[in-house]
Amino acid sequence: PLISTTPMLEQAKNENYGIVAFNVHSFDSIYWVLEAAAEMKSPVILQTTVGTVKSLGAENIVKVATAAADYYRVPTGLHLDHCTDYEVIKQAVRAGYTSVMIDASRHAFAENVRQTKQVMELTANLGVNVEAELGKVGGVEEEIVVSEKDAQKAVPEECKEFVALTGVPTLAPAIGTAHGIYKGEPDIDFTRIEQISKMLDIPLVLHGGSAVPEEDVRKCVALGMAKVNVSTELKNAYSIAIREHFTQQPDSLDPRAYLQTAKEAAKAMVISKIKMVGSEGKV
Ligand code: 13P
Ligand code: ZN
Ligand code: NA
Repeated sequence: PLISTTPMLEQAKNENYGIVAFNVHSFDSIYWVLEAAAEMKSPVILQTTVGTVKSLGAENIVKVATAAADYYRVPTGLHLDHCTDYEVIKQAVRAGYTSVMIDASRHAFAENVRQTKQVMELTANLGVNVEAELGKVGGVEEEIVVSEKDAQKAVPEECKEFVALTGVPTLAPAIGTAHGIYKGEPDIDFTRIEQISKMLDIPLVLHGGSAVPEEDVRKCVALGMAKVNVSTELKNAYSIAIREHFTQQPDSLDPRAYLQTAKEAAKAMVISKIKMVGSEGKV
């Protein structure tokens, strides 16, 4: 079965390691992530954006993720990433997602509170985790585009008030990372993370985890950012492997051949990220 990410992340936070939430964009990649997690004996979170829900279907995703989690015997949560649409959240919850993000970060504080409360009511007593975002994470995550000048770090006092008002069990405060691959190095505000972490008991979420230096990620995890989101590096790794296959052997059209190279690249990336957050052997 798929499990709620709330206890998974609380345990990780209490025991000082992180859980990677990998964005998956295809059914194959669900199997690749879970095979790698099984080899590492690591709990893991699969997440999909709204775009992937639209392309693959929420019920299909739940069925395939459940089958893979049962086959590999890996504690697995399934999360809906960056959703701005209450109807899609309802659809995902009904289909069997065990965690959802309501991303109302582009709205003012009061409206963010209102939308998050609405999702808290929807999921009450269902064992579904809820994640909300404060501040604005820069970069591009499908339809959500935030320019460098519009990116905004979360205010610690507001984080405290937000959690008190909504009761949300996981919070993603913007702290200087961005979606996608950086031009330079990310400017992570560790002092701010520490302040937020001191005010809150709940696990925090690190967005924009691709291309963040390993030691920076480890510092974030140590400060209570128990969920680390990785999308771009994973999809790039296996897409580049497929491109490589066709560059070198344009006439080799056997899907088992090019998907095997894709799988190897995906698994290597998943394993390196699991090692980075310290969740290896935590099953
Ligand atoms: P990256 O694009 O840096 O992998 O960010 C992933 C993310 O935050 C998904 O929500
Ligand atoms: Zn994100
Ligand atoms: Na990133």
